[in-house]
Amino acid sequence: MSNPSLQSIAKQLMASPKGLLAADESNKSAKKRFDALNIPCTEETRRQYRQMLITSPKFAQYISGVIFYDETIRQTTDDGTAFTKLLENNLVIPGIKVDGGLVDLPNFAGETITEGLDGLSARLDEYNKMGARFTKWRSAFSIDEAARLPTPTAIHANLNVMARYAAIVQSAGMVPIVEPEVLFDGNHSIKASGDTLSLVLRVLFELLLAYRVDLTGLILKTSMVLAGKDATNQSTPQEVGQATLDILSKRVPKDVAGIVFLSGGQSPEQATANLAAVASAGQQPWPITFSFSRAVQDGAIAKWAGKAENVASAQDQLMSRIVANSSARQGNITA
Ligand code: 13P
Repeated sequence: MSNPSLQSIAKQLMASPKGLLAADESNKSAKKRFDALNIPCTEETRRQYRQMLITSPKFAQYISGVIFYDETIRQTTDDGTAFTKLLENNLVIPGIKVDGGLVDLPNFAGETITEGLDGLSARLDEYNKMGARFTKWRSAFSIDEAARLPTPTAIHANLNVMARYAAIVQSAGMVPIVEPEVLFDGNHSIKASGDTLSLVLRVLFELLLAYRVDLTGLILKTSMVLAGKDATNQSTPQEVGQATLDILSKRVPKDVAGIVFLSGGQSPEQATANLAAVASAGQQPWPITFSFSRAVQDGAIAKWAGKAENVASAQDQLMSRIVANSSARQGNITA
């Protein structure tokens, strides 16, 4: 059965010309990014950084929702306003990453399983009270053609859990984002990327159906189809646009409320150009937009460098990337 309130949240999240900001880096991922720039990584500097992002001028014109991490959804601005409240006041929807991260899948070298279903309902209740209206769950699949990865076992194990997550989230009245990421690391071809994503999406939608998930209240977050970052033949935006839209059209039922893209280690310019290419590659039955972390934040965090005097220039940098992606979701390249 379809749920009108889930549909309405999903529709607001997908509204043109906006996109979603992924600001749900775990403390471990945040530390890697801060360390690379010699920025001290503490609860307070992470708070200052996320505050910088979400208080950017014109943020709400281009961002429909922000995905937070458990620490971040509990944080406040300098004047004590909850981050969630600040977003709500600007009609931006707070969301929350609820998976517990990746751990090795025993007996399957090089493969992982996502943890986090235990106690999920109770956590959702708490996040719902804090204002979160949507959630995210990520699984990751490495391609290794020689080792025949990903294996069917890893695919089924991860997507079973992902489908159960989606059902639990909908029963709590929130919109699930399902993110089965096919990793960009490696030297695989664009064809291998497409074949893997195609298989992963086929299994995902079979399982979502089996768990009776309402697709009209669900958002897919996906990687793009492109050659691995160490491949000799790198993919052009035109190739990425066509290959990505072909696979999505074949595998994603038209009832799905929307599709958002992760950037996955592409450079900011590459992610924007590829998004524009997907958006202009042909008819799409679902709205599509961006939900980047690195590809919108990389320039901004470097400009900020942990210093209060750099906040305004970092915000300019962030917004120029976000505005470029807003054009890209409409098929236009501006930067
Ligand atoms: P990237 O855009 O950096 O891939 O991050 C998106 C995301 O949400 C990863 O889970």
